[in-house]
This record gives sequence, structure tokens and C-alpha cells, in this order.
Amino acid sequence: MNDLRFVIYLYSYGPPTIVAAEGVSCTELVEQGPPVVRMNGVSKVYNEYSNVVHALQSVSLEVNDGDFVAITGPSGSGKSTLLNIMGCLDRPSSGKVMIDGRDTAAMSDRDLSILRGRKIGFVFQGSNIIPHLTVLENVMLPGILQKRPMAKLRERATQLLELTGIVHRATHKGIHLSGGEQQRVAIARALINDPVMILADEPTGALDSVGAGELMRLLVGLNKQRHITTVMVTHESKLASYAQRSIQLRDGQVMHGPNIGW
Ligand SMILES: Nc1ncnc2c1ncn2[C@@H]1O[C@H](COP(=O)(O)OP(=O)(O)OP(=O)(O)O)[C@@H](O)[C@H]1O
Ligand SMILES: [Mg+2]
Repeated sequence: MNDLRFVIYLYSYGPPTIVAAEGVSCTELVEQGPPVVRMNGVSKVYNEYSNVVHALQSVSLEVNDGDFVAITGPSGSGKSTLLNIMGCLDRPSSGKVMIDGRDTAAMSDRDLSILRGRKIGFVFQGSNIIPHLTVLENVMLPGILQKRPMAKLRERATQLLELTGIVHRATHKGIHLSGGEQQRVAIARALINDPVMILADEPTGALDSVGAGELMRLLVGLNKQRHITTVMVTHESKLASYAQRSIQLRDGQVMHGPNIGW
């Protein structure tokens, strides 16, 4: 899937009128209370070509409004699988996932895509910046997919680019930005629909240590000053220490102990 298709997949949804006809009002989707994420006994089994992988095993956790949570663990421990389930990009094999008070099991794929588009912002290791769009257009894209008015979107996108320190590149094409600059754009884009949380999978993975530190300070600042709930996957304990709490995964299970998990 190319970057444009991927961003459309993350943030698009069908017309609200159709949703209303299905009995799920968009207002209802927006106005739920904490916790932002509640998982209970969540397991994920991949079963391809008769190879069975237990990627997650009975994971239970909560992410509350305003949290900054790091998910750590060795490669293959299930971090991305967990984040993808939190982000309604994938469904669990068993267990309960509540996002902003809604039981995702009871939701159709369309409802999940609405929830995802309106409530969740995504930042990945590769920023998925669309190279031939300008920085401003990249940030506006999820809002355009949500059919929000263009003038307001442009204003909001400009504010977010100011917030993430990259507004001076607003009219530049995405292809011309450095890795760190692209991630700043990706964070602004993740915030354009005023989500309840940002999910970031190795957001500093493509950056050097200076760039990684700068990006972490930006994420921490947004969390503290703007109250943006953030869940971040990282390999590095140094980066995890920026978070308020860590959830450590091993072999698909949450490790419990002092300062680890719940
Ligand atoms: N679509 C899939 N089909 C089969 N197995 C999969 C699939 N996706 C992930 N897995 C397996 O599930 C396990 C957890 O994968 P996951 O990508 O969640 O790990 P991770 O902790 O994010 O690793 P990394 O740090 O390398 O990104 C791994 O053993 C992986 O090979
Ligand atoms: Mg991963």
C-alpha cells in the first residue's frame, strides 16, 4: 500500500448520514469519557500457512485521558500488534477492547473506521508523508477525508504546524523535508481531527539521537501542555523514560513489576 492509500485507509470513513441510519451518531462517538483505552484479556493469534503465532496473550491494560504511556519490549514481543489493535487497525482474536467507552467487538468495520478517523492520530516510524503534497496539504488530508470545511482545516493545520515547529515549511513539498521535519508534520497531521489519543509506533526510529530527543520533547510538551493522550512504542529504554508509565511486553504478555505495566 503506498503512503497516500495508507493515510486514506487510516482516516477515511463513509458519509455521516449513512452512519446515522445505522444508529451510531458521530456526536456520540466523540463525546465519550475516560478511560481512552481499556483492554481485558486481549489475545491475538496469527495463523498463516499452519504456522501459529501467539502475538498477544491475555493482555489487560488501561490508558487514561492525558496519559503518556510507553510500550517497550524486544523485537517480536507484540508491541505493534498491541498498538494496531488499540488503533482499531486490527481486531483481537479474543478479549475485550474498549476505546473511549465503546466496545469495539460490537462495532462494524465501518464504525471502527469512523472511530479511528475521528478519535485516533497515528505516527509511524516512516512518517508516511505524501511526497508530492505540500506540508500544509499533508496535515489537512485526514480532515479532508473527514469532509471538514477547507477554510477551517487550513487554519487548524497552520496552527498545528506552528505548534510542532514546522510552519515555515508549510508550502514546501513533503519530499524535501528531513526525517525529523517529516515526523513533525506527521504529528501535526495526527492532531488535525482533534483525536482523543495519538498512537506512535517507533516514531523516532528513523532519526539520530539528537532528532529523537527533539521529537520526544515535542511529544512530551504536547502531552503536558495540550493534554494529548499518547501511547508510544519504542525499543529504547532512554526514550521510554520520557513517558509517565511503561508497559513492558515479552512474548505477547505484559510483564508486571515495579513501575512496569499495571
Ligand atoms: N500478519 C502477521 N502474520 C503472522 N505473524 C505475524 C503477523 N504480524 C505479526 N506477526 C508476528 O507476531 C509477533 C509480534 O509481532 P509485532 O510486529 O507485534 O512485534 P513487535 O514487538 O512490534 O516487533 P518489532 O520491535 O520488531 O517491531 C511476531 O512474532 C511477528 O512475527
Ligand atoms: Mg513493531
